[in-house]
Amino acid sequence: MNRKTKIYLGDSKKVLKDFESNSIDLIFTSPPYADSRKNTYGGIHPDKYVEWFLPFSNELLRVLKPTGTFVLNIKEKVVEGERHTYVIDLIHEMKKQGWLWTEEFIWHKKNSYPGKWPNRFRDSWERLLQFNKAKQFNMFQEEVMVPVGDWAKSRLKNLSKTDKKRDNAKNGSGFGKNVSNWLGRDLVYPTNVLHLATECNNKEHSAAFPDELPEWFIKLFTKEGDFVLDPFMGSGTTVNVANKMGRVGFGIEIVKEYYKLAEGQLSQNIFVDEPKVKYGKTKTGRRKKIR
Ligand SMILES: C[S@@+](CC[C@H](N)C(=O)[O-])C[C@H]1O[C@@H](n2cnc3c(N)ncnc32)[C@H](O)[C@@H]1O
Repeated sequence: MNRKTKIYLGDSKKVLKDFESNSIDLIFTSPPYADSRKNTYGGIHPDKYVEWFLPFSNELLRVLKPTGTFVLNIKEKVVEGERHTYVIDLIHEMKKQGWLWTEEFIWHKKNSYPGKWPNRFRDSWERLLQFNKAKQFNMFQEEVMVPVGDWAKSRLKNLSKTDKKRDNAKNGSGFGKNVSNWLGRDLVYPTNVLHLATECNNKEHSAAFPDELPEWFIKLFTKEGDFVLDPFMGSGTTVNVANKMGRVGFGIEIVKEYYKLAEGQLSQNIFVDEPKVKYGKTKTGRRKKIR
């Protein structure tokens, strides 16, 4: 496997065929949204989404190392007044392919502004589904620890007898804690909810995510020199962040305009693959909505 960051212009279903099996440590991606509207570039009809995605996830299963992780950023759309079930259906089908659905993180978009809908509130979170090939996978939890927080100052000042031993919850939930365990700790493990603003550096791509999103997962699931892949690269956020963090990033993008954007984002110290076949020719002059 080449140890330099590299981006590809093409359909990842085809490009991935050239990737070695069991070679990637982390796949982090946000594919195009499901979209039932006509004339929306790249949108996949929600009813067809699972069928569309499964050939990609099949290749991803092949290229991921047994110790690796796949994080899929996705959110189900509302279709005719109901949440469509394609994400849930996709999880079921991916499990049949051989994936383990090990965890789900939530990206809380903390800066989303209010709106008015007759029967729901504004969407302010997205899913980050974690899939693995095996129950034992690489995870570097110490890398994402967070400050214990101000609550500790007052709560840990005068500990009662109960605080010094494991105290089971009185409501029978089975939950218990020993409060004194937090004494002297500045850092604790985070929760599975990430509170991040939607701002991102890549303003020319309508669906770019913030750098902090891939950064957090790259810290958690990889170490320096590891291989990180984004098969729906867009403007190259994942690859760029991975590269800056000393990982080897691979990105695949079907639309030349976005591929060029990614190329511009990356340092010059990378390989760039110009294919013989032209993919993703788009009409110029109009900004395309792709998510
Ligand atoms: C949601 S965007 C990704 C945005 C990216 N996370 C960023 O920060 O810029 C999904 C991208 O997948 C690309 N795409 C769609 N189908 C593809 C395919 N078959 N192979 C490779 N890229 C594809 C779209 O052109 C789009 O740029």
